[in-house]
Amino acid sequence: MLDFHDADGKDDDDMRNDTGEPLLATERIRCGKGRQMAKCWKSPLQLPWYLHGLLLLVYSSVYLLLVLSKLQPSCLEQSRPANLTRPLPSREGLQWGERKFPTNIVDNPFTGAPRPELDEAWHRLLLNDNIRVPKSYLDEQNLTSVYTKDGLEGIASLSAYHSLHCLKKVKKMLFKEYYYHEKSDEAMAREAKHVDHCVEYIRESLMCQPDLSMVTFRWINNTAQHEDKSAFYPTNFDVSLHTCADWQALDTWAGERVFDLFQVDLLKRPEPDQSKRL
Ligand SMILES: *[C@@H]1O[C@H](CO)[C@@H](O)[C@H](O)[C@H]1NC(C)=O
Ligand SMILES: *[C@@H]1O[C@H](CO)[C@@H](O)[C@H](O)[C@H]1NC(C)=O
Ligand SMILES: *[C@@H]1O[C@H](CO)[C@@H](O)[C@H](O)[C@H]1NC(C)=O
Repeated sequence: MLDFHDADGKDDDDMRNDTGEPLLATERIRCGKGRQMAKCWKSPLQLPWYLHGLLLLVYSSVYLLLVLSKLQPSCLEQSRPANLTRPLPSREGLQWGERKFPTNIVDNPFTGAPRPELDEAWHRLLLNDNIRVPKSYLDEQNLTSVYTKDGLEGIASLSAYHSLHCLKKVKKMLFKEYYYHEKSDEAMAREAKHVDHCVEYIRESLMCQPDLSMVTFRWINNTAQHEDKSAFYPTNFDVSLHTCADWQALDTWAGERVFDLFQVDLLKRPEPDQSKRL
């Protein structure tokens, strides 16, 4: 540090003492340059002033840097509707824990025949399906989407939500007489294709992020698959601990960025001639 201040005089103006004399210049006169500086440390008055000056400079710089680094993002974020101060999701950013899969089919709002409780459960699961993400993040990922009018954010779904949406489609198809009784044959054919796409999407997703917990077997009679009810067959029962992300935490994260696709007026529309090409 001594050499730095000795090398050029640019800091001298910042460190004047009361007499208007640059402290370092005084030292230089007294001590000369370079290697003779060591002698200065013996002067009882100069040493504290010199150190105080340096400390003040270092302290102020560090403080200024900290303040700037904290202020800049939050100032930018303030004008945006979604809470973008939270980092984007990464697998490391999820909260992981171990649990069993209960897979109850009784007293479970997600299972069984159509009823208001079931519809409500699946609806709530997908409330945060569509979220706003910074356009800069999509650009980094080489992704394009539809954007908000200010052009700052794009609309996206996390893949996990798309899989859940697809699972809901499958569930509804199981009860198509209830859910789709008003649909024409043509509309139903489109629905069938949609569900086929959905099964395919879920297949890809499960294979992409394989859960490696072991599902083990037991000898069971009276199984659903076999006609002879008294015969024992190896039947699998999942009693494993699965390593699971905390869905509630992820869903809360998504909830802070949720975008209602019915608010289509908030989106930047393509020009009419462009829309012909899209
Ligand atoms: C936005 O996210 C930050 C970081 O997690 C959090 O501290 C803050 O409370 C959130 N603000 C709102 C309005 O939810
Ligand atoms: C995006 O595209 C650029 C240019 O082709 C490439 O260098 C970069 O690795 C891509 N980024 C991602 C996340 O795929
Ligand atoms: C299944 O096995 C149990 C125990 O071995 C027996 O008590 C029961 O009667 C069997 N059920 C059928 C349908 O054979």
